[in-house]
Amino acid sequence: MSGSPIARLYNHPNAMRSNRTIPQDRARIVLVGFMGAGKSTVGPILAERLGWRFADSDHHLQARAGMAIAELFSTVGEAHFRRMEAEAVAELHREGGLVLALGGGAIESEATRSLLARSSDTFVVFLKAPLKVLIERCENQPDAAVRPVLRQRDTLAERFQARLPHYERAHLTVETKGLSAEAVADSILDSLLQAKPEPHAAAALTTDLL
Ligand code: S3P
Repeated sequence: MSGSPIARLYNHPNAMRSNRTIPQDRARIVLVGFMGAGKSTVGPILAERLGWRFADSDHHLQARAGMAIAELFSTVGEAHFRRMEAEAVAELHREGGLVLALGGGAIESEATRSLLARSSDTFVVFLKAPLKVLIERCENQPDAAVRPVLRQRDTLAERFQARLPHYERAHLTVETKGLSAEAVADSILDSLLQAKPEPHAAAALTTDLL
């Protein structure tokens, strides 16, 4: 795997020393953040640059359930939706060489939080922006799928605050306000470049981001 894209990133001469090991062939990047964070826009750019596959947990869940997110939400209720979402995430998370965008509320699931925390070969990246900016971005996406949680305006700020500590457990946080999707992808790749392999473990990756 020494020639894999992530290995090349980690072999960058400017890399810094770090202390966690990631098996190269199973590495993946998971993008988390509130609705409008840019996960589904930045993800494909990142995947293309790494030569990896991009997957979106919302799309996977919709395909699995055979219905749109909003329909699923109203048919089975939010609690059941979260369980189905956690299963969809767990299924996708088995893949390596993957950039995975999670639905904004996926980290509400304890199972998903624990999956991400336990995985030593996953980089979790939080795409951060102020709530006002996130709402504006969502409103400027007239073709986006209906987001039931976005419609619950009275509880939106509370939900945002409750999710923040979970998002902030990511290995890397990128402030996205004012940045293009390309610039956010560059910033993630630049951060990955700051790590290098342990000299005695050629097949392993290490990083101080974890
Ligand atoms: C949700 C976010 C949506 C989607 C669903 C619920 C949420 O995904 O999963 O509408 O609870 O924040 P995006 O973050 O991709 O919009």
